[in-house]
Amino acid sequence: MPDFPVAALRSVELTTPHLAVSAEFYTKVWGLDVAAAANGTVYLAATGRDFHVLELTPGEATSLRKVSFRVRSHEDLHRLFVRARQAGCEVINPPAPSPAPPGGESFVVREPQGCAMEFVHGDRTKAARVIAERPERLAHVNINSADVEKLSAFYQETLGFRLSDRSKLMAFLCCNSDHHAIVLAEAPRNGLNHVAFLMPDLESVMRGSGRMVDHGHPIGWGVGRHGPGDNVFAYFVDPAGTVIEYTAEVLQIDDSYVAKGPADWVWPPGRTDQWGIAPPKSDACKAAQLAIPFATAST
Ligand SMILES: [Fe+2]
Repeated sequence: MPDFPVAALRSVELTTPHLAVSAEFYTKVWGLDVAAAANGTVYLAATGRDFHVLELTPGEATSLRKVSFRVRSHEDLHRLFVRARQAGCEVINPPAPSPAPPGGESFVVREPQGCAMEFVHGDRTKAARVIAERPERLAHVNINSADVEKLSAFYQETLGFRLSDRSKLMAFLCCNSDHHAIVLAEAPRNGLNHVAFLMPDLESVMRGSGRMVDHGHPIGWGVGRHGPGDNVFAYFVDPAGTVIEYTAEVLQIDDSYVAKGPADWVWPPGRTDQWGIAPPKSDACKAAQLAIPFATAST
């Protein structure tokens, strides 16, 4: 693989107007554990090595407060900071020891389309476990963009991501062997489209989906198998209105992978997944995919 300065997508921070409800949902139904609570924020862990994958912070409305990435080295962290500033990012926190529970050195910037991004090196991790029906880590974050080409260029030229595929409406970007860590979706306004959590396997996606249905959270889209990335999926809307996805079997790629373009990723009429079994996406899911803005308060 190329020498990506960003090693992996680590976590997201969401604000929620109902912290207790959201925390109970993610621990009792979605399959995460409380890793820490500090300064009003609840840090939730999956079963993999990341200290946490989701931060829940109280807020007046639901929003995406930041997306956090792990950086390969101290030198890369500082190099990325310089490049981010040169690209016009707003500096929220310059490089410094992170006050968050997993620690490490980090900085936070807001990219030109408004998404706050944290870059971390040297954060604390834990022993990874694989537990059936429970998320291991984040798989990808899908960001709505009114100018996908411009944001895609920023991810590639400033942050060192690589374009792994381009469909008519979406750009798929990778920073390691996962086919994508970030997806940019064409939308009328910038914001969060959805957050995907990696399950151990297809069976876990199916059984986790059944657990969601049992608790009154219907499938918004799926179960199906995506085209770009070849991953299986099931989409839901969480109690605060954020679209979340269980996914598994994400295509692993290397330097030899050749990106396809919009003409290659076309479904036959009426089909929205490879298997041809996913029913049409629910109106509630469609609306929620366009409803979550970026938080504007400083991180
Ligand atoms: Fe997704």
